[in-house]
Amino acid sequence: MKDKIESIIEEINHFTINDIQTLEKFRIQYLGTKGILKDLFGDLKSVPNEDKKDVGQLLNGLRTLAEEKFNLQKETLDTPKESTLKMDTSRPGVDSEVGSRHPLMLVRSEIIEIFSRIGYSVSEGPEIEDDWHNFSALNFPPEHPARDMQDTFFIENNGEEMALRTHTSSVQVRVMENQKPPIRTISPGRVFRNEAISARAHCFFHQVEGLYIDKNVSFADLKQTLLYFAQEMFGDKAKIRLRPSYFPFTEPSAEVDVSCTICNAKGCNVCKNTGWLEILGCGMVDPSVLESCGIDSKEYTGFAFGMGIERITQLKYKVNDLRLYSENDVRFLKQFTGGI
Ligand code: DAH
Repeated sequence: MKDKIESIIEEINHFTINDIQTLEKFRIQYLGTKGILKDLFGDLKSVPNEDKKDVGQLLNGLRTLAEEKFNLQKETLDTPKESTLKMDTSRPGVDSEVGSRHPLMLVRSEIIEIFSRIGYSVSEGPEIEDDWHNFSALNFPPEHPARDMQDTFFIENNGEEMALRTHTSSVQVRVMENQKPPIRTISPGRVFRNEAISARAHCFFHQVEGLYIDKNVSFADLKQTLLYFAQEMFGDKAKIRLRPSYFPFTEPSAEVDVSCTICNAKGCNVCKNTGWLEILGCGMVDPSVLESCGIDSKEYTGFAFGMGIERITQLKYKVNDLRLYSENDVRFLKQFTGGI
């Protein structure tokens, strides 16, 4: 009897079940009312008393084995395989919203693209700057009002006084200190000023600085570069005009206006009926700035310019409140889907 049980255990272990029909065959053969187990339990009566306990235990083990195998295989066969899952192609799809790029980043990419077409690289510098890069190297005298606590956020870093950069002109100093001319680069980045937040002013905003240093660079090159930029950005009909101005780090200096993109220079409330809009500051790099950065001002000349990305974005997309850029209102952000 014991041998018989053992050979049935072997048999069960080797029984392969791949489908429902074989599973059912297994059930009938071993566990059914007329199955092998039923017979064996019936045979238990004829086993001598002294062996009954052992044989009974063996039989119970056999039954557990058969039942467990059956349950396990049933569960496996009942779980549908992924590939056999039915897909209802008539159900409407789930709409997933596509994100959009921030308008300032769209305009930033466009500016980079326009200047890269005429050979400008992109360089970046730190937002936390020292006095030298943000002011001294750029020819700001110690008593210059721009260093005043009202404009600049000062912070302390390991006992050293540092500033949150107030303009990206600091990056032109870093580039000139580290590269030999010819230099042709633009530096986009975030800048900070201690201003009360309103529709027209913010405590942080974005600028792009431009720098071109080589032999014989002239003011005419600067003018032509800026006209190229204005027409690429605002269309072929855009005009520019330069007004004399003052910056400590350029001489001569100018402020540049572009013909009003909103009213086509006819006069509107954005250009205050002048037909012109200010877009940037520029000038020939002051020889003393070149010298501070280790560039021989007798051999090299160059120009620099700086523009606000928010300002260009306002003119391109007619956004008239600076606060909208940093409020993260998706109703505002969703509108900007085009661009690079
Ligand atoms: N750094 C100036 C500002 O923040 C902008 C500027 C003016 C940059 C003239 C220049 C420049 O490179 O030549 O207002």
